[in-house]
Amino acid sequence: MSQASEDYDTPILPGGAPSDYERYLNTVELLELQKTPDERVHRDELLFQVVHQSSELWLKLATSEVEEAVLLTEQGEVAEAARVLRRPLRCMRFVTDQLDMLEELSPWEYQEIRKVLGHGSGFDSPGWKTLRAALPRLGQAFHARRREAGLSVEELYVQRRDHEALYRLAESLIELDEWCQQWRVRHYRVVARVIGDGVVGTQGTPVEVLGRLVQTVVFPELWEVRNELTARSKAETG
Ligand code: HEM
Repeated sequence: MSQASEDYDTPILPGGAPSDYERYLNTVELLELQKTPDERVHRDELLFQVVHQSSELWLKLATSEVEEAVLLTEQGEVAEAARVLRRPLRCMRFVTDQLDMLEELSPWEYQEIRKVLGHGSGFDSPGWKTLRAALPRLGQAFHARRREAGLSVEELYVQRRDHEALYRLAESLIELDEWCQQWRVRHYRVVARVIGDGVVGTQGTPVEVLGRLVQTVVFPELWEVRNELTARSKAETG
């Protein structure tokens, strides 16, 4: 068939949806994943579900990319691993930014939505759970490569020009850690703004616990080395 006579309006992919766009992206199923107007106790349930569901998708992508970076690091492809890690970093920015939308909720009207959440809690977020499981494996893979190069973390930072790829990987790890913290800080502030910081969550966790979780880091050695470098510099300069 010549290009001019090709029928672009007829879908060619398998499936029942009217266009290839909808067939490839499963938009029919995707757009049915939110409550219908009749099912909602408040119209803001759509806003609430969209923010959570899209966060789960970005976190799914983030986890997949972190897992790829683990494999690459284990295979010794350190520079490529650092390149791949730009993606989960962007995912973390997106999920952090979109928390803003929840501040459009009225704290009083949100109470209506809260009543239909059951024991639903972010602690059970599949996206966060899988990401949290993948990150320590990334740390293990990085440290294995670093030890293989015969370097302490401090030496890697001092001699970074001789170990550029490994250094960049270390910096990607700490940036990811920082973004997880940024998300936690932002989430805590949003929770405080919507339901308050002196109440108990839908799974029985006092909100103040979220404030303490902000301190959690996945790669403590990479934070600690900053202290060591400052101490070393001070010792060297007297
Ligand atoms: C109005 C919006 C939100 C409120 C009021 C809220 C409230 C809470 C509360 C009270 C907790 C403590 C656990 C509990 O008892 O439930 C919690 C934890 C959590 N929430 Fe949310 N949340 C909101 C939005 C989100 C969004 C959009 C996500 C994205 C996936 C999310 C993910 C999490 C996670 C992962 C935790 C565990 C805390 C951690 O590991 O740091 N939350 N949330």
